[in-house]
Amino acid sequence: MPSSSVSGWRGVSASTDPRQRAAGVLARVDSAGAYAARLLGDAPPLTRELVFGTLRWQRTIDHLLTPYLHRPLSALDPQVRAVLRLGVYEAQRLSTPPPVAVAEAVRVAKATCRPAAALVNAVLRKAAHAAWPETEDRSLALGLRLSHPDWMVERWRGLFGEALLATALAADQEPAPLSVLAAGDTEQRLRAAGCELVPHPWSRAVRVVTGNAAAAVRIVAEGGGYALDPTAALVARLAPWVAGIRVLDLTAAPGGKLLVLDAHSEGLVLVGADRHLGRVVRLRRTLAARGCGAAVLVADATAPPFVSGRCGLVVVDAPCSGTGTLRRHPEIRWRLRAEDLPGLAAAQRRILAGAVGLVAPGGHLLYATCSLEPEENEQVVVGLALEPVPLASALPPGLAFVQRPSGGVVIPPSAWGDGFSVHLFRRPA
Ligand SMILES: C[S@@+](CC[C@H](N)C(=O)[O-])C[C@H]1O[C@@H](n2cnc3c(N)ncnc32)[C@H](O)[C@@H]1O
Repeated sequence: MPSSSVSGWRGVSASTDPRQRAAGVLARVDSAGAYAARLLGDAPPLTRELVFGTLRWQRTIDHLLTPYLHRPLSALDPQVRAVLRLGVYEAQRLSTPPPVAVAEAVRVAKATCRPAAALVNAVLRKAAHAAWPETEDRSLALGLRLSHPDWMVERWRGLFGEALLATALAADQEPAPLSVLAAGDTEQRLRAAGCELVPHPWSRAVRVVTGNAAAAVRIVAEGGGYALDPTAALVARLAPWVAGIRVLDLTAAPGGKLLVLDAHSEGLVLVGADRHLGRVVRLRRTLAARGCGAAVLVADATAPPFVSGRCGLVVVDAPCSGTGTLRRHPEIRWRLRAEDLPGLAAAQRRILAGAVGLVAPGGHLLYATCSLEPEENEQVVVGLALEPVPLASALPPGLAFVQRPSGGVVIPPSAWGDGFSVHLFRRPA
């Protein structure tokens, strides 16, 4: 079956069968460059677990499958590849007994790629029992044991050193807990639904939510609170502010940074802009539902339609590779190439060039990305006609970070939050 036939699996990803749906989503992520989180929508917990777990552990899973295949995995149809990977993940990492996991994968194969069902059965019966690599087994590459591409491991080793590298890789292999910016009666509603809320040590407005995940997701979707990573919340508050200043978030959708600024910093005049109309429409709805009165408009940050030199704070939370967010978007690691980074950096430079002139004398520019890569961060801010402001003393005690020569910091992903890179600049008064 040719790979292009995968477009025929659209219906499969909407299947009510959790494994069939998971296989359909995985095939589309693999072959069509789709993002799992978007395709999953309201998928049941088992489907989500199968999709995210399989994507997180894809390299390790492929290592177990390879000895039992006569052809490279890459030569198989994406749907067959998806069923094989999903079968190994379920047999090896979930509590499903391996024979049941294999039988379920064969059932999905019969329903979705019947000619390959015998192959799936033969391969999975062996791979389901193969030895999963020990995390401490130094005879195997670290990237294989913790399922990341070697190029990424090597550049993060250089950036973080061994200890933080291990923390970052291990963090990427666990799901991110739900954390929310609580507002209004959200906390009461979540508690009434059986959720527990723990204040996050980095940010007083962020609560980590456990228990009754389904109810929590529903309450947040209804506009109760806003799901936001704790590091993203922390980053938004790193710029100093005084009441009355105009704050412009030039890349504002979906709205997390604006909501944090609104919650933490009274008396700011908030304006949010984004290039994409659809995202601005959703941003406006999100802010209104949470009582945030920021003005919102469509604008291209590379040619911003604002008067120069008037903003006390300009925030650029730039579109980026997202390598700090692999807990939430595990597929990025299999898709991104080091060669993609210069293209992203060029777009970031254009946005920053538009942003710099908007900063008022004495005002600040906050440049952040959820990328850990120097190309998208310290190399992008080189030559800005602004003074770097040291950030280390503004970070919470105990937070691991790497200070860069550019004055910015890189926060690696951890069990506490996603990875981010941040720079703060000031225009002399
Ligand atoms: C990382 S997201 C921003 C996240 C947001 N600040 C938050 O906290 O929720 C990057 C945003 O930049 C927007 N964007 C990309 N290129 C842009 C441009 N040239 N001008 C304005 N917005 C742009 C994208 O539409 C996207 O919404």
